[in-house]
Order: sequence, then C-alpha cells, then structure tokens
Amino acid sequence: MRTKTLDQLCAWLERTPMNEAIQTVHWIVPAVQTVHILAIAAVMSSMLMINLRLVGAIGRDQPLRPYSARFLPVIWWALPVLLATGIVMIVGEPVRSLENTVFQVKMLLVISAMAITLLYQVPLNREPAYWTLTGVRRAASVALALVSMTIWIAIVFAGRWIAYI
Ligand code: HEM
Repeated sequence: MRTKTLDQLCAWLERTPMNEAIQTVHWIVPAVQTVHILAIAAVMSSMLMINLRLVGAIGRDQPLRPYSARFLPVIWWALPVLLATGIVMIVGEPVRSLENTVFQVKMLLVISAMAITLLYQVPLNREPAYWTLTGVRRAASVALALVSMTIWIAIVFAGRWIAYI
C-alpha cells in the first residue's frame, strides 16, 4: 500500500545521512541482518518452547509459570533488537519495506503476536494454574498456542517474502 505520507516519509529517509551511510558502507546491512536473524532465532526458539509446552508436546512434568518465566523474557528482550535492526534496514531502503504490502502485513502480524503473548502471560502471572485449571481453559490454551505458532511462523515467512515482492 502506498500513500502520499508514506511517499514523503520515504523521500525524507532517502535524504538522511544514515541512509547514505548504509548505502555506502557495505558491511552495515549484512551485519544488521545477522543480528536480526540471531534475534529471530531467540524469539522463535523461546516461543516454540512455550507453545509446545502449552500443547503438551514437551515438558509436561514442569509447571507452566516457572517454565514460561525462563523463556518469556527472551521474547521481550529480542523484540526491541528486531525493531532496532529492522529500522536500520528500513532507513537503508525505505521504499523496499515501508511501501511493501508484505512488510505492512508483517508489522500487523508482529503486533498480533505481541498481543497474543500478553494474552497468555498476564493471566498466568495473576494465577499460576490459569491455563490448566478446567477443561475449557485447557482447550483455550491449546488454541492459543496453535494460533501463536501460526502467527510467528507467518512473520518469518513474510520477512523472507519482502525481498520478492
Ligand atoms: C519488530 C519489528 C520488525 C521490523 C521493523 C522488521 C523489519 C525488517 C526489515 C526491514 C527486513 C528486511 C526485508 C528486506 O528488505 O528483504 C526484515 C527481514 C526479516 N525479518 Fe524482520 N522486522 C521486525 C521483526 C521481525 C520479527 C519479530 C521476525 C520473526 C520472528 C522477523 C523476521 C524477519 C525475517 C525472517 C527477515 C528476512 C531476513 C533475511 O532474509 O535476511 N522480523 N525485517
């Protein structure tokens, strides 16, 4: 999707010294992409540990709250790293990302993934047995985990797809 405001933002970003530096110093983009990919590995492995535990595929002998307490901070610490490295890539080539529909969908998916992570985390913090208490909550936790895994995987797919649109 293209709008006049996005056009103006891209045109402004293309005139910034940061854009010029990214365009001329050839190691910046691969270095930043490497950090982006390492942060993706951290987020994806942690979210899989939590969601596979939720569906009961792993760690069934361990209580949910301490288990999640190990992995949730990794997700929340890696997200600002993804945002910062993502911004550098955007400033380097603004039109390629900001006006790319797949990039825009990816950002909506990132917001949804954060929302669903909170939807899991907040009740669990209030009540350690929240997701395991009754049959309905147990079913809801499995549904939440499946939706969460689908969204995170879709984000990775969209991230790769940006380059081909
Ligand atoms: C938090 C905000 C984020 C921003 C602003 C952002 C931004 C970007 C940008 C601009 C690119 C370069 C696309 C291109 O030009 O080809 C990219 C690549 C990518 N992103 Fe993100 N991203 C974010 C979060 C995430 C998250 C949470 C994931 C997955 C867990 C992710 C996965 C990817 C993948 C797989 C690529 C392709 C990497 C490559 O092929 O080198 N991103 N991202």
